[in-house]
Amino acid sequence: MICTDVPAEGDTAGDGDQRGNLSSLAAAWDRYTTEHRDEQFTWAAMAPATGESPGVEVLELRPGYRVLDLGCGAADNAAHLAALGVQVTGIDLSPVQVATARQRWGHVANLTVEHGEAVEYLSATSDTFDAVYSVFGAVWFTDPAALLPVVQARLRPGGVFAFSQADVQPAAGRCNLDNPAAIERWDFRPATWSFLLRTYGFRQVTTRELPATKGFRGWPTMLVTGQTSLSSPDTTTG
Ligand SMILES: C[S@@+](CC[C@H](N)C(=O)[O-])C[C@H]1O[C@@H](n2cnc3c(N)ncnc32)[C@H](O)[C@@H]1O
Repeated sequence: MICTDVPAEGDTAGDGDQRGNLSSLAAAWDRYTTEHRDEQFTWAAMAPATGESPGVEVLELRPGYRVLDLGCGAADNAAHLAALGVQVTGIDLSPVQVATARQRWGHVANLTVEHGEAVEYLSATSDTFDAVYSVFGAVWFTDPAALLPVVQARLRPGGVFAFSQADVQPAAGRCNLDNPAAIERWDFRPATWSFLLRTYGFRQVTTRELPATKGFRGWPTMLVTGQTSLSSPDTTTG
């Protein structure tokens, strides 16, 4: 199933009814299904990773590190990381996705899957993470002006932030606004993501295009990475 075509029934709430909007979005994501289960970590959620594609090394992990997966879905990637010896928290808006993840990976040590919305979770937690990542997940479907400052705030100095989404050509910016039956997403060009990450205080920003295999509508995957500054984070922009 193609994620952004999942209907969000009754998604007519305005900005003033954020909770109602979130529950509509959660219901839409409840109907999303992942039929594949990758044997390895992949940034190209809808396609198998190729040998040449970047993988888990992007996150610069060390044993014992704390990692957060934003929009983990069935948590295949999170379970893979947990098996490598890092402490992984997966967060997802959809109760069905969370239940699937717990059923599939409940036996994996070092893995916690929580139900929640990414911005709300990051705003409420006092935890600090060594890396935050998202694979075709919450970063693609959340206003970066709300999300990037709270990611920045919960990453340790020098921590890695990395996310992937479809590399949509031509990129439409904020899209699906005119279609209440589709989930809103942020289709930015690599240069726009690079600008946004720098604006919100990330350094060492990179964008990469990973070739399409049989992936999402044949679109390549875009992988974006950045790091928090080694000095105290600057979250004042925006
Ligand atoms: C296309 S799926 C990808 C799931 C998983 N990362 C993977 O690679 O299979 C997107 C996931 O992001 C979740 N999601 C979307 N917006 C979210 C938000 N604001 N907060 C938390 N989860 C969100 C959805 O519930 C869904 O499970």
